[in-house]
Amino acid sequence: MKKVEAIIRPSKLKDVQQGLREADIPCLTIVPVKGSGLQKSYTERYRGTEQSMILQTRIMIMCIVSDSNLEKCIDIILDNASEGQVGDGKIFIYPVEDAIRIRTRTRGIEAIK
Ligand SMILES: Nc1ncnc2c1ncn2[C@@H]1O[C@H](COP(=O)(O)OP(=O)(O)OP(=O)(O)O)[C@@H](O)[C@H]1O
Ligand SMILES: [Mg+2]
Repeated sequence: MKKVEAIIRPSKLKDVQQGLREADIPCLTIVPVKGSGLQKSYTERYRGTEQSMILQTRIMIMCIVSDSNLEKCIDIILDNASEGQVGDGKIFIYPVEDAIRIRTRTRGIEAIK
């Protein structure tokens, strides 16, 4: 199992979510986030050092997928979240130790099916 964490533009959420659902990857968690990438939007001197003052508003989509669904999940996010412009976002992938469905106490891959 892998954890996919994608930071995307809020305007792309609907399409990404629909794409994942159509590919039978319906379970996900959405978190509104603020952050910064490479580009400095605007800087201001604060206590003697240049500080980046503005954070971009983004949405973080988090989903735990089977290894066999990983590449499909990544492709759907790439296809639906890209404008081909700076600020399109990033995808991070982590290994997942275990998962448990609370209702049934099923563990592992069965818990995310
Ligand atoms: N290395 C990182 N660690 C944590 N969050 C990140 C990282 N890189 C980007 N982010 C998050 O993703 C958002 C969008 O990043 P962004 O797409 O601007 O990355 P970038 O590296 O500047 O690439 P680009 O040059 O395409 O803009 C940031 O606002 C931040 O929330
Ligand atoms: Mg950027």
